[in-house]
Amino acid sequence: MRIGVLTGGGDCPGLNSVIRAIVRKASNFNDTIIGIRYGWKGLLEKDYLTLDLNSVSGILPKGGTILGTSRTNPYKKENGPQIVKDNFKELALDALIAIGGEDTLGVANNLYKEGLNIVGVPKTIDNDLSATDFTFGFDTAVNIVMECIDRLHTTAESHNRIMVVEVMGRHAGWIATYAGIAGGADYILIPEIPIDLDEVCTSIKNRHERGKNFSIIVIAEGARFKDESLYVQEKKVDEFGHVRLGGIGHALGKLIEKNTGFETRVTVLGHIQRGGSPTAFDRILGTRYGVKAYDLIKEGKFGKMVALRGNQIVEVSLEEATAKLKTVDLELYEIAKIFFG
Ligand code: F6P
Repeated sequence: MRIGVLTGGGDCPGLNSVIRAIVRKASNFNDTIIGIRYGWKGLLEKDYLTLDLNSVSGILPKGGTILGTSRTNPYKKENGPQIVKDNFKELALDALIAIGGEDTLGVANNLYKEGLNIVGVPKTIDNDLSATDFTFGFDTAVNIVMECIDRLHTTAESHNRIMVVEVMGRHAGWIATYAGIAGGADYILIPEIPIDLDEVCTSIKNRHERGKNFSIIVIAEGARFKDESLYVQEKKVDEFGHVRLGGIGHALGKLIEKNTGFETRVTVLGHIQRGGSPTAFDRILGTRYGVKAYDLIKEGKFGKMVALRGNQIVEVSLEEATAKLKTVDLELYEIAKIFFG
């Protein structure tokens, strides 16, 4: 078979482990893997390369993606879906593995419904894809944020300061909640629950009254105050209609300082969270996903996405996976709340 592979949307650690697993398994069966460069853009422009064992040698510990990525949406280009279908044919692809988040897999699902043989692999540090317990990339991001919170603790304590840490999480506060619990955050703010400034400040004041001289507040970039809109860096939207988020941490920091009188500093972690080497968990998850995606193609099961349920790798429909976003489990957030203040 000739199987295409592409990575779309924001990169994340673990993408290369998926690509490597697909190529390694396919080589056992003499199938050809065609790497499509820069996501859907590569299929629109026929930008590709053949991936052999040498191309994937040594990539397991590397972050990013050897194929490159983009947020190109064929449905936003004139005649885009037809061009993709024509090029699919011209490249003599029997099937395609699309590795991406909600946007990339949404396109994959539409193209599948238009007749292309596609299987999806769930990727995003945000962990907000439905139908899977975890996307790869998330665990690495959580560990990076946890380490940053640990580092901020020592400087916060030395200076008697409040530290606000802004983390990624556009629609869902998974990174904030997990890293906040792991790092011992004193308050966690997520997109799922509007910010109640009085509650945050009262909680910090109570903490300081019982003798603590510093506090760490973790906030997801997509969190917002009651009745207020999102904080954005610029209004321009990408091809999937997303604005560039950022700024809520600074807004919150100013208000906390004003309302509590405690000196406050803000750290925006940004793309640090998406960089560097994947954790063992993400390497293993990516490897299992890659092997399963290849197997689904060999079994002719298209329109599916590989997913983790418990400790099993299973198949789910792309339709189910892209129907709605997975927001933070509020039972978990209740556990986080025990440690607020
Ligand atoms: O979707 C993953 C994500 O990391 C979001 O949390 C964040 O808002 C976005 O990507 C940032 O994207 P970009 O790479 O375009 O700045």
